[in-house]
Amino acid sequence: MITPQKTLWGGRFSSSLTSETVAFTHSIAADTRLIGYDIWGSQAHAIMLARQGIISNADLREILYWLRKAEDDYQNGNLMLDPNKEDVHMNVESYLIENAGIEFGGKLHTARSRNDQVLVDARLYVRDEILNVKRGISTLCDAFLSVAKEHKDSVMPGYTHTQHAQPISLGFWATAYVSMFLRDQKRLQAAYELTNTNPLGACALAGTTFPIDRHLTAKLLGFDAVHEHALDVISSRDFIAETLFALSLVMANLSRISEEIVYWTTYEFGIAELDDAYSSGSSIMPQKKNADITELTRGRTGRVYGALMDLLTNLKGLPLGYNRDFQEDKPPLWEAFDIVKACLGILPNLLNTTEFKTDRMADLVHANFATATELANYLVKEHQISFRESHEIVGWLVGELAQQEKTFTDWESTQALLKQKDIDIPISQLKQILDAELAIQNNLSLGGTSPVEVSRMIDGFEEQLNKIAEHIYNCQTQIEDAHKETQRIVDEVLEK
Ligand code: ARG
Repeated sequence: MITPQKTLWGGRFSSSLTSETVAFTHSIAADTRLIGYDIWGSQAHAIMLARQGIISNADLREILYWLRKAEDDYQNGNLMLDPNKEDVHMNVESYLIENAGIEFGGKLHTARSRNDQVLVDARLYVRDEILNVKRGISTLCDAFLSVAKEHKDSVMPGYTHTQHAQPISLGFWATAYVSMFLRDQKRLQAAYELTNTNPLGACALAGTTFPIDRHLTAKLLGFDAVHEHALDVISSRDFIAETLFALSLVMANLSRISEEIVYWTTYEFGIAELDDAYSSGSSIMPQKKNADITELTRGRTGRVYGALMDLLTNLKGLPLGYNRDFQEDKPPLWEAFDIVKACLGILPNLLNTTEFKTDRMADLVHANFATATELANYLVKEHQISFRESHEIVGWLVGELAQQEKTFTDWESTQALLKQKDIDIPISQLKQILDAELAIQNNLSLGGTSPVEVSRMIDGFEEQLNKIAEHIYNCQTQIEDAHKETQRIVDEVLEK
């Protein structure tokens, strides 16, 4: 039950809020994740105020002492965020005022607004989560690369329109996902860079008359740079939009692999089987083994897209400056991160334990004219026929064989039909041309399905993944070093 009290901004108000106003406006549930970041941001701000002579060293000591205490109290459950205090920022500030007294605690908010403060918290949180997602994607890429390394020569039908198209290798299929997810890594990195700039010191919207040092807080918070324009940074949430767009495409890609796993594991396809530990059964049908994890991944994708639409819609009509609408940016963003991280947490293991039925794949690839293009290409190369004519001939051949319920591997019929078109190819030769394994080996063009190209691409992807790992490590180190440096200063001040 919320019992309304006077708020920190209550000076110009003659009555306190109704409980329904408090209940309607507070953001405690979403803000809980931010408390550690809010305290770090406040430490950096207070240190900067003291360095600039805006508050005294004695003020700084009190403020830092109680900020530490707030963190400890929060950790051991003695500080609960109170909806009456509206948000995390005012909870922490009230804690300081209540404990250090207004003569000290009341100085923390000098040359700062919740408008820049909320952006500090959100940016610190988002950059950590982007790094987590990036790690998850790399783990998933590793799982695809193990499939690829094992199956560079395993033939399967490649599909267009979900119809047999041309033979490819399972390894080629797996590396396609790596190639896709590496672009997600780039998008996330771009979002990270847009996120990792310092909003602190923009204050409410106009900057301040106090002689603040925005570069110092940027350094103490591990930001790459200062986001200079005060009104722009206060008014903008595009770093969240970029992040949500990147997360949406990650989910699109996860949903696509999920869809493939769902139907690959059907009886009709039967080209993959999930490990029992990564599937589910039915409460009534004893024989069922379902691909629930991938269905849930597919099914949760919409919630991440929803988060993006939510934010884009939120932004479209907003005038410059802080608008309370911005408070609504966080719950969907948190949910999007949670969903993406959960999916990335489980899919690599699911993939690592999936059994790919390579015999069944090889049977399928020879059952339904998937090598027709190889024959057409052969006629172009060896019989001096234009591709359009050879396409016509092979199309006619497939039609005839299909009508007789035969395939290319009914060699006599294939040979005889080609003879009707004055094309004489020995059966031993036909067997070579129409062999799926040979076909994939010969697709040597850059980026093609040949094992040579797949091996080369695997090497290239591994190199990119190593660079990404190094980059994640560097970003993480920059964050940790900044946090350590802030805490070192706090320790130093508190020891004096
Ligand atoms: N809880 C707010 C949010 O999440 C913090 C900023 C509030 N600023 C204000 N002027 N009301 O956006």
